[in-house]
Amino acid sequence: MSGGALQQIPPDVANLADFEPHARERMSPEAFAYLNGGAADELTLRANRAAWDAIQLWPRVLRDLSGGHTRIDLLGRRWPVPVALAPIAYQQLAHPEGELASALAAAAQGVGLVLSAQSSVAMDVVARAMASETERGPLWFQLYWRDDPGFMRELLGRVEAAGYEALVLTVDAPVHGARDRERRAGFKLPPQIRAVNLGGLKRPVELQPGQSLLFDGLMPRSATWTQIDWLREHSRLPLLLKGVVHPDDAREAQRRDVAGLVVSNHGGRTLDTLPPTAALLPRLREAVGPELPLLVDGGIRRGTDVLKALALGADAVLLGRPYVHALATAGAHGVAHALRLLRDEFEIAMALSGCRSCDEIGPHLLWRSQE
Ligand code: GLV
Repeated sequence: MSGGALQQIPPDVANLADFEPHARERMSPEAFAYLNGGAADELTLRANRAAWDAIQLWPRVLRDLSGGHTRIDLLGRRWPVPVALAPIAYQQLAHPEGELASALAAAAQGVGLVLSAQSSVAMDVVARAMASETERGPLWFQLYWRDDPGFMRELLGRVEAAGYEALVLTVDAPVHGARDRERRAGFKLPPQIRAVNLGGLKRPVELQPGQSLLFDGLMPRSATWTQIDWLREHSRLPLLLKGVVHPDDAREAQRRDVAGLVVSNHGGRTLDTLPPTAALLPRLREAVGPELPLLVDGGIRRGTDVLKALALGADAVLLGRPYVHALATAGAHGVAHALRLLRDEFEIAMALSGCRSCDEIGPHLLWRSQE
């Protein structure tokens, strides 16, 4: 870290959501709108949260839980806890140390990290911060397809050389959603904050008269299934797809040998009115069978949410906005504190439901009013 004094955690912070008002105070209104906002009426954004809340638990008691733990093994690595930080762009909008602070905190708390391709800190700096911690979780790299094979080859080479262990291709956002909150706030990326890992990629869209910017300019440059095969051929790293929500797409991904899926509606930021991820997850688990690694994100705020996600068929979860709220509030210390709170809540939830390990978390823990 840059040697600054440890930033203090506000005394009223008892859970992850408690960081949000502090982040609102510390970030510019435009940057906060960009981070917190969703697409259009933000129905999916709210539905994500509401869906976890609506699920009730049905715990077991009087079990011997000695030797209990939260570890999982997934994609060739031991995870101390089934949680990783979701890819969130431009974290220097929240704190000058940006993604570096998030990585240091994740590593210290045994939480994994999926670095956004639009990181405002260099990917090798972030990777070194994670790699130095022996008890860390996985280190993955998120990317979008760019229609420039030379650029993609070079990027994949840098990602592998830096030590990232998997690729996460985001497939649900070939174009931004219609983000009303962000536009109302007049968000613009400040000139000093950049996607430093994507330097040199600027190909202006050239259109003929009468052509559509979206359909003739942007969409032809975005990924199709062909590019999934290309990526698998051009990188040795396991490839996961983030943003698959339909069972047929999940099965197609499986046929193409992807290493896993992240069940995500992009935190409600792309297409509004999608179902919440808690509703999508069991459908996708059913579609792909028990083996394919599935992660889920969207509205995870509590240890009980992590438990519910695993009970619905996820192997692990990604945590999004709350860790950036913690970052804005108190830098690396804030993120580490948030992650510790989540770990503690998850351990308590496991203990109080009678689960000694993540393998013991299953649909039997979910309340069904009719048998
Ligand atoms: C980018 O992926 C965003 O959601 O802003």
